[in-house]
Amino acid sequence: MSDVVIRPVDASPRSLNDLSDLMIETVANGGSVSFLHPLDEGRAKTFWTGALAAAASGERVVLGAFDGERIVGTVTVFLALPQNQPHRGEIGKLMTAVSHRGRGIASTLMAAAEALARERGKSLLVLDTAEEEGAASLYERLGYIRAGLIPHYAFKPQGGLTGTVLFWKQIAPLPDHA
Ligand SMILES: CC(C)(COP(=O)(O)OP(=O)(O)OC[C@H]1O[C@@H](n2cnc3c(N)ncnc32)[C@H](O)[C@@H]1OP(=O)(O)O)[C@@H](O)C(=O)NCCC(=O)NCCS
Repeated sequence: MSDVVIRPVDASPRSLNDLSDLMIETVANGGSVSFLHPLDEGRAKTFWTGALAAAASGERVVLGAFDGERIVGTVTVFLALPQNQPHRGEIGKLMTAVSHRGRGIASTLMAAAEALARERGKSLLVLDTAEEEGAASLYERLGYIRAGLIPHYAFKPQGGLTGTVLFWKQIAPLPDHA
């Protein structure tokens, strides 16, 4: 982990390629990140083009874990939520390259995501993960509280329905008013 640096991802062609490659590999290996296998490059790039545009407008932050210039992990913090939930943020699209898993990169990305969310005035984070082959144990280790399970929620990348587990974590004192 010592040689990996966490920072926001810019909207360069290199970032777009790296994030798309990372998502294609993640889906091919059974990761539930909203897509089915095989994920084609065009669909992956369309997704990340939109995500990086939303990041440029401040609606979200896409963090990257950089090994040199290559993005080997990512997580997104969604900041733009309804008017009556300004203190809430959502976490999504947490992925680590297969070659770099088990080194604490996702845990470090999550710590950075929480720090960033706190800086942006967020006190309550919400996320979900697939019941099968998801990251529930990782989130539990990081202090997220399991709110419940919705069965039959989505198809796994290689087919077959799986449930989704909802988690939340309070990361700062709650506001008195909006
Ligand atoms: C979930 C995921 C992001 C974890 O990334 P990571 O950088 O390996 O995470 P960490 O190293 O911080 O922790 C990995 C966990 O796997 C364990 N692990 C150890 N060696 C490992 C290895 N070689 N490969 C994978 N996991 C390993 C760690 O002990 C740790 O255990 P925990 O699940 O009980 O917390 C990664 O596996 C991934 O991209 N999965 C597919 C996408 C996905 O499911 N994302 C979550 C969507 S909500």
